[in-house]
Amino acid sequence: MESLIRTMLDVATIEAGKLTVSFGTCTAEVLLHETTEVLGPLAASRHVNLVLPPPEPHLTLRADQERVLQVLSNLVGNAVKFTPEGGRVTLSVERDGDMARFAVVDTGPGIPPEHLGQIFDRFWKAEASGQKGTGLGLFIAKGIVDAHGGRIWAESGATGGARFYFTLPLGEAERRAS
Ligand SMILES: Nc1ncnc2c1ncn2[C@@H]1O[C@H](COP(=O)(O)OP(=O)(O)OP(=O)(O)O)[C@@H](O)[C@H]1O
Ligand SMILES: [Mg+2]
Repeated sequence: MESLIRTMLDVATIEAGKLTVSFGTCTAEVLLHETTEVLGPLAASRHVNLVLPPPEPHLTLRADQERVLQVLSNLVGNAVKFTPEGGRVTLSVERDGDMARFAVVDTGPGIPPEHLGQIFDRFWKAEASGQKGTGLGLFIAKGIVDAHGGRIWAESGATGGARFYFTLPLGEAERRAS
């Protein structure tokens, strides 16, 4: 219940164009580690293999750690939720110019190309997806990534599977180095 209230508050804040993030320094390693702590047990209980290739060492972002974890837990949570037993979800992050690019790739049914333009809309859910959810997670994820000056998008794999990507600014030292 508490989390539903938080969800609705986030939606209202994003709709009002008032979502602010507190920029701090966080590392890709910690973000991935925290995501496994939160979603590893769900993946294991659904017999979905959660794979996290280690990121480049010391990859540092200028971002709001709690908000980024919210994005990751929705994307990885979705991937685990929609991937059938025995499937795989891969979460990786790599440097892309001045940004870090996260990728969440799964072996589930994927998203039909005609829906790719709507999935970040409020309350959008595939018809008869048969899964619990309010259809707000991706809307909030987009609001959070936008507030960081990043970009979020999805692709459908040619052989099924969904691929979600988002970018976040690298820390200042990283940007100077690139
Ligand atoms: N990895 C995925 N594979 C297949 N379909 C997906 C995937 N991720 C999202 N979708 C589709 O996009 C819809 C919207 O996702 P979103 O995270 O916004 O909502 P939700 O997961 O249904 O609910 P909530 O996140 O609010 O609990 C999903 O209901 C599903 O139809
Ligand atoms: Mg969701």
